[in-house]
Amino acid sequence: MKDFKRILVTAALPYANGPVHIGHMAGVYIPADIYVRYQRAQKRDIKFVCGSDEHGVPITIRAMKEGVSPQQIVDKYHAIIKESFAQMGILFDIYSRTSNKVHHETAATFFKKMYDDDLFEEKETEQYYDEKAKTFLADRYITGTCPICGNPNAYGDQCERCGTSLSPEQLINPKSTLSDAVPVKKKTKHWYFPLQNYEAWLKEWILEGHTEWKNNVYGQCKSWLDNGLQSRAMTRDSNWGVKVPLPGAEGKVLYVWFDAPIGYISATKELTEKWEDYWCKKDLPTEQAGTRLIHFIGKDNIVFHCIIFPAMLRAHGNFVLPDNVPANEFLNIEGEKVSTSRNWAVWVHEYVKDFPGCEDVLRYMLCANMPETKDNDFTWKDFQERNNSELVAIFGNFVNRTFVLMHKLCGGKVPKLHEDILDNTDKALIEEIKNAKGKIEKAIEEFHFRDALFEVIDLARKGNKYLQEKEPWKKASEPVAGSPESGANQQLIDNCLHLCLQLTANLAILINPFLPNTAKKMQHLMKVVDKMMDWENAGKLKLLSVGYSLRPPELLFRKIEDEEIKAQVEKLRANALKAQEKTNTMEENKSGAGSQESEPQTSNLKPQIVYDDFAKLELKAGTITACEKVEKADKLLKLEVDLGTEKRTIVSGIAQHYKPEEITGKQVIVVVNLAPRKMRGIESQGMILTAEDKNGKLYLLKPENTVEPGSTVS
Ligand code: 2FM
Ligand code: ZN
Repeated sequence: MKDFKRILVTAALPYANGPVHIGHMAGVYIPADIYVRYQRAQKRDIKFVCGSDEHGVPITIRAMKEGVSPQQIVDKYHAIIKESFAQMGILFDIYSRTSNKVHHETAATFFKKMYDDDLFEEKETEQYYDEKAKTFLADRYITGTCPICGNPNAYGDQCERCGTSLSPEQLINPKSTLSDAVPVKKKTKHWYFPLQNYEAWLKEWILEGHTEWKNNVYGQCKSWLDNGLQSRAMTRDSNWGVKVPLPGAEGKVLYVWFDAPIGYISATKELTEKWEDYWCKKDLPTEQAGTRLIHFIGKDNIVFHCIIFPAMLRAHGNFVLPDNVPANEFLNIEGEKVSTSRNWAVWVHEYVKDFPGCEDVLRYMLCANMPETKDNDFTWKDFQERNNSELVAIFGNFVNRTFVLMHKLCGGKVPKLHEDILDNTDKALIEEIKNAKGKIEKAIEEFHFRDALFEVIDLARKGNKYLQEKEPWKKASEPVAGSPESGANQQLIDNCLHLCLQLTANLAILINPFLPNTAKKMQHLMKVVDKMMDWENAGKLKLLSVGYSLRPPELLFRKIEDEEIKAQVEKLRANALKAQEKTNTMEENKSGAGSQESEPQTSNLKPQIVYDDFAKLELKAGTITACEKVEKADKLLKLEVDLGTEKRTIVSGIAQHYKPEEITGKQVIVVVNLAPRKMRGIESQGMILTAEDKNGKLYLLKPENTVEPGSTVS
């Protein structure tokens, strides 16, 4: 391998249109962070850059759905995402954002240079236009009925119900999501990047020059290149994004996949004045190349990072090219694909709240299950098992036993090593400690993070086995076979615990890239400075000095209980159910009133209302006088509610939360002026109010004291 002077690691810029979930973490950010932490421990010159991708259609759609401006959307999600990364210990050198001024300038200048060098084709084509909203429409902005499955809310590029890729022309009754107008075709001018001009070079550079890239990455590139490249528009009609820096280009912005990867350059510029050292080609002897640029991404980003961006860098000139693009596949959850629209996801900001202090457990799980070569599955059961049987029972157990025994049998100090009496078991452990470093670094350098992690766990497992064989706790009371010397047993105990402690110090260094919080706790227990954690110290056997007193044992990991897992599985299902119900309601409303679909929201407030809006509701207290299950409907109960002057039949979706006999006789709050609605053939004449906790459990709202049925609620 070439000897690089410095390394620049980028992690895909997440769209700031929603929070990050564990699929993002396992695919991109955990592997990138492990790699970077390892290189930092190797004392290499390395920078780790990332930021929010704040342009493009996903952002504007989200803004439209939430009824706010794109800027409000990106401000909100940029903050949430940044916080989630920090909480999970993803330690970027900079986490920037593409709405920054420096990025707009950098991206516009990049485009302008390519334009001035005559590298674009200017073309006029016909695209969909909304005459009411007076704007061109990206395919996503057009909805209609899917010709395949009949979904009335299919998008112009895809039907999210049946997964078919579509073009707007295929939709039945296409409509603009901005105004409901039927879109018309209109001419518009854009700048196209003729990728075919770079095809021969890309073939040579990737297919011949980068045979070491991961199979999934190399395979995708080969397939793109074998199919032949075409010109791609690098500009769009929109008001949100980096403005096209040309006269007469009002209302046009750079294509988000043109500007986003340039975000890596602008983030580096923001980070250091010496950004050119990392990005620009230097005249160094070829055996000592300048920068090793590595893009960590998910598999859906491969073409952009391996073909389009490198072609842009080459066309612009004077930029280094990626040396590797270790893309991962996807992480499914409980056997199903992650879906933000179905809310089938484990959100990082929720995990850290539900499992405080267990960030490393998730890092561990996502690394152990990393979708390196194929899609993998995350299950909560597996999460519990890996925690309890690997982190707690192997790694944590070894460190804990070592500390307990060292305090009990060696006075809380690092005991001496009596080299003259080392036996084969001791020597074998010493060999394992020495060899682990090489195996782990090779695996990390080759982006085999799972293997690397398993090597570390395996070393801890060997430590447990060693302790089990040596049984120092027995030696303390045993007579010394064939030895006239008193204290011979203590020497055996000393050797065992000396080696276990040196192994613990090694484990701290080796686990550090993967589980930094755990490594910190171990550092604290051993009272060692950061310098000891340098990678070059791994494999050494004199990391802890003889006689040095260490802290009392503290557990590194806690057991995860069945109830915690059950609650998470229920939460996942409840969230998905809620999202489904919401979509159903939206679809019903949509066919009636043409309102717009909105994504399941994580913590979004509805738009503000005035008192008059609230006053339109008529709320009364009532008493449930009868209740029964609705046939063939798992979720519905049919209630008779006494409202003083009248009795109403109300169908309510609370059957999974209350049994009929539990609520008969209880008081509830009823929305009495809601238009009647038929559910399972029963006319529901109102709605009862409930509160829902974060796990999706519903609770009836009722007056504090029993009141006359029909009492007004305000
Ligand atoms: O797929 C995504 O989430 C994109 N926002 C990734 C962009 S990576 C880079 F090019 F900035
Ligand atoms: Zn469909």
